[in-house]
Amino acid sequence: MKEENQKEGQPLWHGRIKEPSADALQRLNTSISFDIRLYKEDIFASKIHAEMLKNAGIFNDEELKEVIDALCLVEAQIETGEIQILPTDEDIHTLVERKVTEITDAGARLHTGRSRNDQVATDLRLWTKKTITEILGLLVTFQEMLLEKAISAGETMMPGYTHLQQAQPVPLAHHLLAHGWAISRDSERFIETRERMDVSPLGAGALAGSSLPLDVRSVAQGLDFAEVFNNSLDAVSDRDFVADALYAMTILGIHLSRIGEEIILWASSEFKFVDLAGAYSTGSSMMPQKKNPDIAELARGKSGRLIGDLTGFLSTLKGVPLAYNKDLQEDKEALFDAADTILNLLPAMHGMLETATFNAERMNDLASSPFMATTDLAEMMVQNGMPFREAHSVVAGLVQKSISEGKDFAELIAEHKLLGPEATNLLELDSIASNKKTHGAGGIIQLGQQMEDFQENITKNKEAI
Ligand code: ARG
Repeated sequence: MKEENQKEGQPLWHGRIKEPSADALQRLNTSISFDIRLYKEDIFASKIHAEMLKNAGIFNDEELKEVIDALCLVEAQIETGEIQILPTDEDIHTLVERKVTEITDAGARLHTGRSRNDQVATDLRLWTKKTITEILGLLVTFQEMLLEKAISAGETMMPGYTHLQQAQPVPLAHHLLAHGWAISRDSERFIETRERMDVSPLGAGALAGSSLPLDVRSVAQGLDFAEVFNNSLDAVSDRDFVADALYAMTILGIHLSRIGEEIILWASSEFKFVDLAGAYSTGSSMMPQKKNPDIAELARGKSGRLIGDLTGFLSTLKGVPLAYNKDLQEDKEALFDAADTILNLLPAMHGMLETATFNAERMNDLASSPFMATTDLAEMMVQNGMPFREAHSVVAGLVQKSISEGKDFAELIAEHKLLGPEATNLLELDSIASNKKTHGAGGIIQLGQQMEDFQENITKNKEAI
């Protein structure tokens, strides 16, 4: 049965404003097309709110049951797509409330002590918590995959780069784990973000709480929030959690973009470091020889979109006075878009890397270039008492001579009075790979410890999920 004040097709404010809304207002104002995604959270929060209202004497047992049943029915109808959305169903909160009130008169009491302002903040926090947990699940398996790849890289060495110029040889495993640690920080950032946002805003009402004896703590508990708000104005207008989540997604996207950029370079005929599996590559419609790293390119491209979601939302937020203002409705599309982007990208990047074959021979070959040993040669002279600057200059002189006179670098070292034939051993890749002494260094000896630490980090992140 319908109540008088909840006639189909009337906006929530029809008691105050008699004119029907202009089409242009409705089109601009409506958010149902995207916030319908919050239906589960909206219905869950409404159930918990209704139970609290019963304890506060607003519903009797029977009314509560009717409201809960109606909420379940509306959820099922949304899921099967049989719900009819009216132009006046401005957002998910309006839609759910209208439908519940159409099913039972008791529905008209559901909005007691709450506003769409605290409702939307609650729904979005619940959704963000859930989505972060989903992303975290993908991130730890991504970390596991990188560790697996690092283990199977064995003792393969590759040129490490600075300025994209060959610098010093490093194990391929060390390079892969470097990305792994960045992804691990992403996991930690999501865990911290989820922890900080674990606060219930429900009960803050429109902005000032309520004069009714409502138990906001029991609501927080029922919704599985760790804390309850301290300030009703802050509760309805705080969107830090959206910005935090967007930042965590953006920096993750940037890490994926940097991995992507390397894969693009490495898959080129010039580098030939990696061969991507056919299932994760694309071809060209015109050039039959092409095998393209589209996934890696999209990782690079989509990081721009994530930056846009973050900066766009921050710009929206900066001028919003307390408490709720409609500007805040802009939070959702940015957040949903960023989350969709990440949830789409991560499995593709995961699969692409997991199935990629590294060209160990090519990497080892390039890492064996004699000039890659120059820093170690200079450090050997330092061990013999020479100041590093001087040693650097001696070795640089030999490099220069080798290039300008076309002389063999090893011979020049063997002939040099401060180096000698012994020093040419340092040019061997094996010796460079095993002579690193410092913690966390790019040497074979340190890899075992690093892998153990990384595994421990994965376990810690897994437990936190
Ligand atoms: N749909 C709005 C949003 O997404 C919530 C509704 C609050 N609206 C209001 N007029 N107080 O933020």
